[in-house]
Amino acid sequence: MQAVFSHEFFESDRILVTGGAGFIGSAVVRYLINATPAAVLNLDSLTYSGSLSNLMDVTSSDRYLFLEADVNDSSVLAQALGDFTPTAIIHLAAESHVDRSIAESDPFVTTNIVGTHGLLKQSLVYWRGLGEGKREKFRFLHVSTDEVYGSLGNDGFFTEETAYAPRSPYSASKAASDHLVMAWVETYGFPAIISNCSNNYGFYQFPEKLIPLTIINGLSGLPLPLYGRGANVRDWLHVEDHVRALMLILRHGQVGRNYNVGGRNERTNLQVVEAICDALEALRPRAGGLYRDLIRFVEDRPGHDHRYAIDPTRMETELGWRAQESFSTGIEKTVKWYHDRADWWEPLRRRYDGRRLGLTSAPSI
Ligand SMILES: NC(=O)c1ccc[n+]([C@@H]2O[C@H](COP(=O)([O-])OP(=O)(O)OC[C@H]3O[C@@H](n4cnc5c(N)ncnc54)[C@H](O)[C@@H]3O)[C@@H](O)[C@H]2O)c1
Repeated sequence: MQAVFSHEFFESDRILVTGGAGFIGSAVVRYLINATPAAVLNLDSLTYSGSLSNLMDVTSSDRYLFLEADVNDSSVLAQALGDFTPTAIIHLAAESHVDRSIAESDPFVTTNIVGTHGLLKQSLVYWRGLGEGKREKFRFLHVSTDEVYGSLGNDGFFTEETAYAPRSPYSASKAASDHLVMAWVETYGFPAIISNCSNNYGFYQFPEKLIPLTIINGLSGLPLPLYGRGANVRDWLHVEDHVRALMLILRHGQVGRNYNVGGRNERTNLQVVEAICDALEALRPRAGGLYRDLIRFVEDRPGHDHRYAIDPTRMETELGWRAQESFSTGIEKTVKWYHDRADWWEPLRRRYDGRRLGLTSAPSI
């Protein structure tokens, strides 16, 4: 499957990636620069979660350009589109952390909804101005989440037919942006596709999300907080599997459709944290006890969705994609990466020190 990807991008491919300094966006940019001949413009406003240190591998490439800009800045967007002349856009720029959305929802509305709307408007103008051959080939891939589908009980899976039922300010803002994207397809014939992905993990993830936070706290000998009883279930996907899925969707996905991307790797949060503890134990045994001894059950997230689980059949049967990384191999590699790369995460801990966010009793962060 690997060979298929690299042969399917050409020197003429020019990909505008929004949010390319974030966790998933930087994995997309690294893939496009290192494994394809495409040119990339990374448009990112460098919020707390965006970092150019995620892109050290690619900055020397003459096919890579960076523009520090906000997706809400319509004149900069118009100019960037006109100057770079993308053949495709992959839209990842977003506020992405549920706990932050609970504490302060405004940036989620501003970036995820208003920003996506602004980008769609400018992209439509640009697309309409393209010559005939280019207009047919152009694609806009909007990267969304499985959280738009709401919460599952102990059984069942989200399919592309599942009705949207978002329950947090984050997922509501992503659902709104998805609806805008589909409105652009239906109303203007704009060639957009949506991917809805489960929880990602891997290298370069900002240390506020469960997996990097747990690894870094463990390495630092700090408590490992688990919301509620750690019984909430997520379907984990290694970020590099996600990138491979996005490349296939961009190339072969059908305009106007959603594609659910999931790794068939359901775990409770407790299982995830225990797996991290065991990987840490193997790598650097803890003096004076076990890493598992650091686990602390803390007040649950307000409105915490019980379970997300993706049915990725469409990806598997129509696009030939399947997650390559199992959870156990992926988590071992990820733990080792954070263990080896304190030079990457230590400066980011100064931006966010790991304190609890998003309790409704604490109105602002
Ligand atoms: N992380 C996951 O598990 C996951 C799962 C499914 C979908 N997604 C979606 O994937 C996308 C990327 O997620 P991530 O985990 O990489 O997030 P992230 O927070 O690591 O990165 C977001 C990036 O967007 C940039 N950004 C934020 N606001 C911006 C603005 N107004 N203008 C320009 N740039 C801006 C940030 O600087 C950052 O580089 C998001 O749309 C998210 O909803 C994430």
